[in-house]
Amino acid sequence: MTDYTLLNSQADALLRDEPDALANAANFVALLYNALDDVNWLGIYVLRGDELVLGPFQGQPACVHIAVGSGVCGAAAATRETQRIPDVHAFPGHIVCDAASRSELVVPLIVDEELIGVLDIDSPSLDRFGTDDQAGVEMLCETYCRLQAGREAIISLD
Ligand code: SME
Repeated sequence: MTDYTLLNSQADALLRDEPDALANAANFVALLYNALDDVNWLGIYVLRGDELVLGPFQGQPACVHIAVGSGVCGAAAATRETQRIPDVHAFPGHIVCDAASRSELVVPLIVDEELIGVLDIDSPSLDRFGTDDQAGVEMLCETYCRLQAGREAIISLD
């Protein structure tokens, strides 16, 4: 089982002294991808206007544009609530990027009450993510967002 408290300390140490938001996003996804077992894709989709655009990730190449409200990522963005999906095939409108993905966890990224994107994690196993994973990843995303606040904004990259 993942030690999310330790991972959160590692994320904090990795990001806190670096002012570049893009570098921090890239390092954050690399840290999590390598720390979590049984994950085939992990990355950030950045909110640009009314759509999510692919940002730093680890895994197979993925779909680039996702409308807010579409798929699991779009649902997380539209509701600003974590989507913990035990079986992606049972989620209406699920967007297939890597056909190996069977379960998914998507956490909205909110800085100063503004949605900046979502963190998306896919697993090839059914029901990979439990409530402990949800709480742990939400804690990590809070740390990420706290440390991205005031940084050169990833959303400003054109
Ligand atoms: N499955 C996601 C799309 C992104 S990929 O999994 C990387 C969705 O339904 O929003």
